[in-house]
Amino acid sequence: MMRLSGKTALITGAARGIGLAFARAYVAEGARVAIADIDLARARNAASEIGEAAVAVEMDVATETGVDAGVSAAIAALGRIDILINNAAIFTAAPIVEIDRDAYRRVFDINFGGTLFTLQAVARHMIDRGIKGRIINMASQAGRRGEPLVAVYCASKAAVISLTQSAGLDLIRHGINVNAISPGVVDGEHWDGVDAFFARYEGKAPGQKKAEVGAAVPFGRMGVPEDLTGMAVFLASDEARYVVAQTYNVDGGQWMS
Ligand SMILES: NC(=O)c1ccc[n+]([C@@H]2O[C@H](COP(=O)([O-])OP(=O)(O)OC[C@H]3O[C@@H](n4cnc5c(N)ncnc54)[C@H](O)[C@@H]3O)[C@@H](O)[C@H]2O)c1
Repeated sequence: MMRLSGKTALITGAARGIGLAFARAYVAEGARVAIADIDLARARNAASEIGEAAVAVEMDVATETGVDAGVSAAIAALGRIDILINNAAIFTAAPIVEIDRDAYRRVFDINFGGTLFTLQAVARHMIDRGIKGRIINMASQAGRRGEPLVAVYCASKAAVISLTQSAGLDLIRHGINVNAISPGVVDGEHWDGVDAFFARYEGKAPGQKKAEVGAAVPFGRMGVPEDLTGMAVFLASDEARYVVAQTYNVDGGQWMS
């Protein structure tokens, strides 16, 4: 039996990586999905590869006009939004003494502001239509504790965990469940970028940091996007109806809470 039959989902940053795996998994469970991304060409490729249950939507979660346009386009294409996954994010790293204001603003505008204001826009839509919806935010093990070179990204993900608690407590009275997933290290283009930062700041050879973090995961390897899809389907399904304001670690044992 399919667990998301008849449901519609807006997934931000879904043109590649974890968001794309979520889109595929949701369609496999019977949902229709809007693949929303700042990279429209890649979102279109992803949607056409998935088939008619997927539509590509251009969306920049960092701006008010980008959020409004993306949410409106998703509602126009799907008819309504039952599930939102706030997945779009960027990474940055620098020692404290080199943190740059522009990089800080960009990370917070996307990782935190994008999550907050997309959540707000979709919550308004759900409340207006009486939709008992689901909102899933992408946090990170980086949000569970600081790291010497990753202050800004870590803080942005800690803010996502806090927002998940506040929004979860506020929106459950409307029948909207807000929860989050906290991955550990997941292989893909995102981590290729992370690896390049560590090569620069720690003098590591390309690929070295990735190999080290993978070897350190208690499970024995880095995650792959498909390791996270079970939790994303569960949190959107009726089975999670009593789950409110939680952040779940899906990280091969990296973090315990
Ligand atoms: N990969 C990991 O190891 C890891 C670990 C912990 C948490 N996460 C989180 O999981 C989520 C997905 O990670 P991923 O590895 O698939 O990342 P990714 O970098 O591969 O994909 C991110 C997507 O977001 C899109 N995007 C960037 N800026 C945007 C904007 N302003 N508006 C709309 N879309 C935008 C990109 O075009 C890209 O398609 C992110 O929230 C990330 O922080 C990832």
